[in-house]
Amino acid sequence: MEEARQTMGMGTKPLLRVLAGQREAIPPVWMMRQAGRYLPEYRALREKAGGFLDLCFNPEMAAEVTLQPIRRFGFDAAILFSDILVVPLALGRKVEFLAGEGPKLDPLTDAADLATLRDTIDPAVVGKVYETVTRVKAALDARTTLIGFCGAPWTVATYMVAGEGTPDQGPARMLAYREPELFAQLIDRLADASIDYLVGQLDAGAECVQIFDTWAGVLSQTEFDRWCVKPTKKIVDGVRARVPGAKIIGFPRGVGSKLWRYVKDTGIDAVGLDWMQGLVYARDHIQTLKPVQGNVDPLALLAGGAALDREVDAVMQALSGGPFIFNLGHGIVPPTPIPHVEQMLKRVRG
Ligand code: CP3
Repeated sequence: MEEARQTMGMGTKPLLRVLAGQREAIPPVWMMRQAGRYLPEYRALREKAGGFLDLCFNPEMAAEVTLQPIRRFGFDAAILFSDILVVPLALGRKVEFLAGEGPKLDPLTDAADLATLRDTIDPAVVGKVYETVTRVKAALDARTTLIGFCGAPWTVATYMVAGEGTPDQGPARMLAYREPELFAQLIDRLADASIDYLVGQLDAGAECVQIFDTWAGVLSQTEFDRWCVKPTKKIVDGVRARVPGAKIIGFPRGVGSKLWRYVKDTGIDAVGLDWMQGLVYARDHIQTLKPVQGNVDPLALLAGGAALDREVDAVMQALSGGPFIFNLGHGIVPPTPIPHVEQMLKRVRG
């Protein structure tokens, strides 16, 4: 029954077909951060909701915000509206989003801080997210895929340790060097929590999930293997043990040629390419292993015009010969004009 449902879904949904290894003549398209501040309808609802986290934990509003870009642009996938920092919150840490400042957390720097973490994610917190997933799933048509997500343990840990975003994630890198055992415990706890969280989203109706490792690129080779590759593999194995055949996209940003090992060793089904990634390298060494997703520079989308056309064409030419999901190389930036998104879609879909 479960298998029949998944096979059916794969037959009708372009994005799921690509995740199964097929090439689509016109690649499925979605954008990272597609629900957000560049949309006037998002800004209007956000104002009504109050804080950003109030919006994340209001299933009716979060579902509406998830669907806004689908209605406007007809993307092939909806990505759950939430945030990667829901996991530290669900583990009992204080997380706030201050207007114009980004996330603020109580920094986690020693064993006493680590001891404050709950053993498992709080169902009262994540239950709201699962309810959003179920609502969105019920509202989607037969060809649009619902993507759930979490942050990778490393990226989530960087915010937990520093208590905020930093330019090079120095605080987490220093803690990892100075107290590797403490840091390993934190990463391990986050990996376990992420498995529960992704399984919860898949059970609630998500059809695939993406693991965002936004800060993977600041690590040396050995630290990358230890804090990104191994924990990601643990999540992939842990999720698949409970949801057989679960489809998982990895997005380790900024890792350059370390991407090959990541794809080989984590077991992910497809990989997101950041905008800095080389197209020839991606086509010849990565897409031969797994479907790829990406990777137009969000600033080319902001610029628009001939520069945007050039970037879209280069990505399409390099990657549309194999299994490929068209996307940006990172999140859309808030000042992006909506006509630029329309221009990009027209170019991709011909
Ligand atoms: O549309 C989507 O992609 C789904 C929603 C989504 C958000 N955050 C909404 C959001 C997703 C998938 C994320 C992931 C996320 N959150 C990441 C990984 C991906 C990436 O972009 O690198 C990271 C590192 C975070 C942490 C985070 N959340 C930061 C650093 C910030 C502040 C910076 C900013 O863009 O404002 C956020 C806030 C946030 N998350 C907003 C949105 C729409 C803006 C909040 C607002 O509306 O005021």
